[in-house]
Amino acid sequence: MKAGSRQLKPVVLVLVFNICFYAICQTAELQLCKMCTGTVLNGTAVAQFCSSSAGRIDGRCCLKNGTTDDHERIIGLDLSNCSLTRVDYLQGASTSSIIDLSLNPIANISDSAFQGFIDLNYLILPAGLVCPGGNTSWQKVEVKKENRLCEGQNNMCNQTGHMSMDCPENSICAPYGPGFFECSCADNYHGYKCLRQGEFPALQVFGPLGASTIVISFLLWVTQRRKAKSL
Ligand SMILES: *[C@@H]1O[C@H](CO)[C@@H](O)[C@H](O)[C@H]1NC(C)=O
Ligand SMILES: *[C@@H]1O[C@H](CO)[C@@H](O)[C@H](O)[C@H]1NC(C)=O
Ligand SMILES: *[C@@H]1O[C@H](CO)[C@@H](O)[C@H](O)[C@H]1NC(C)=O
Ligand SMILES: *[C@@H]1O[C@H](CO)[C@@H](O)[C@H](O)[C@H]1NC(C)=O
Ligand SMILES: *[C@@H]1O[C@H](CO)[C@@H](O)[C@H](O)[C@H]1NC(C)=O
Ligand SMILES: *[C@@H]1O[C@H](CO)[C@@H](O)[C@H](O)[C@H]1NC(C)=O
Repeated sequence: MKAGSRQLKPVVLVLVFNICFYAICQTAELQLCKMCTGTVLNGTAVAQFCSSSAGRIDGRCCLKNGTTDDHERIIGLDLSNCSLTRVDYLQGASTSSIIDLSLNPIANISDSAFQGFIDLNYLILPAGLVCPGGNTSWQKVEVKKENRLCEGQNNMCNQTGHMSMDCPENSICAPYGPGFFECSCADNYHGYKCLRQGEFPALQVFGPLGASTIVISFLLWVTQRRKAKSL
């Protein structure tokens, strides 16, 4: 009986954390959509994409419900002409397929700004910037007028010459945004470099730990951002 209640605690904690995480995510998403005045303009790339994907425009975002749940997520983001100087706070839009950052005085973009943006297939940047992950992370890179277009994200797990170094044995490579990949252990393997075989008994313990770490980083991120904004 005692063991049972001890196990219940983490589960409750996870539930609480998940609810908080969900709420923070939604707030972060909404902030992104409203961070610039105006809405997605008719005729722009994001507007065209949105209407062809049956999305809903809200501020600078194109939103659509996920296929598995009823949670609306950002599938397109138009932050064109927004006086942005940096773009390291876009994680709330990591489900986007298209992002327009044109006409902004952005000085540089760190590669990790788009880490985890696995669906991103069209990115419009001011011409002076390079596509995140470099040219090899994209099928096509063009400069048109004032803009640089990064089109079609390459799968980093399938680059000629990179094959052997990608992931350790017994692990599976998966794309993780432009220039990034992630390795996850194949079924039944776990531990450092996926060397140990068998069911992972501590998964239920490590799962919650992982979740709380994410929430704490997220909270830090949000509070830091607030501070940065109010400066
Ligand atoms: C933009 O499109 C919407 C819906 O198609 C339409 O109601 C609106 O009048 C258009 N706005 C402009 C400025 O063309
Ligand atoms: C999208 O999800 C919201 C609830 O989050 C629901 O009210 C709405 O009907 C859904 N829209 C579609 C098109 O499924
Ligand atoms: C950018 O925004 C400013 C005002 O915020 C507006 O005057 C200007 O026309 C916009 N430029 C473009 C290309 O939309
Ligand atoms: C971006 O550029 C600014 C100056 O232009 C520099 O101080 C900063 O370190 C750069 N950031 C990155 C991530 O390269
Ligand atoms: C990337 O592609 C652009 C456009 O094709 C080109 O101008 C640029 O020189 C390329 N950069 C590198 C490092 O190859
Ligand atoms: C891997 O790349 C090759 C050639 O670049 C291509 O023919 C193949 O379909 C790709 N495989 C996957 C799974 O993307």
